[in-house]
Amino acid sequence: MYNITVNGQPFGTETDAGTPLLWVLRDEVKLKGTKFGCGIGMCGACTVHVDGRAMRSCITPIATVAGCAITTIEGLSPDGTHPLQRAWLATQAPQCGYCQSGQIMQAATLLKDYPQPTDANIDAVMSGNLCRCMAYVRIRKAIKLAAGMQEASGV
Ligand code: FES
Ligand code: FES
Repeated sequence: MYNITVNGQPFGTETDAGTPLLWVLRDEVKLKGTKFGCGIGMCGACTVHVDGRAMRSCITPIATVAGCAITTIEGLSPDGTHPLQRAWLATQAPQCGYCQSGQIMQAATLLKDYPQPTDANIDAVMSGNLCRCMAYVRIRKAIKLAAGMQEASGV
């Protein structure tokens, strides 16, 4: 039995130790916002927070996160008003949308570490999150807008 919290709610699973966190979240917790892209840690579609840090849930065995606090895109904000979510809407950043929950979860870590990120900061932190629709310019714009919103609101 492995116990985690997901978006503040306790959850227990009896799955195998090696089951990726991604499949616990999608198949057991029934939260579908976290996506499967590559399954080998190379695209970022599956990014969630583990104790506040962005991690690739497709290559994270459940046994390694027992006792941890997991946050998915559904839990980033209780009402969808996180600055990143508002900025994503304002800039219409997504195209197909498939990569976007991972992009936002990775960007949330970026803004924690770099509240006013430079282009170099964004490149360094976001380069592992791939977008096959090539929405990178809008994603960068949304991150900068969110940084401004965050600063203005004192979040
Ligand atoms: S699905 Fe996890 S990094 Fe691609
Ligand atoms: S918006 Fe389609 S993969 Fe990124």
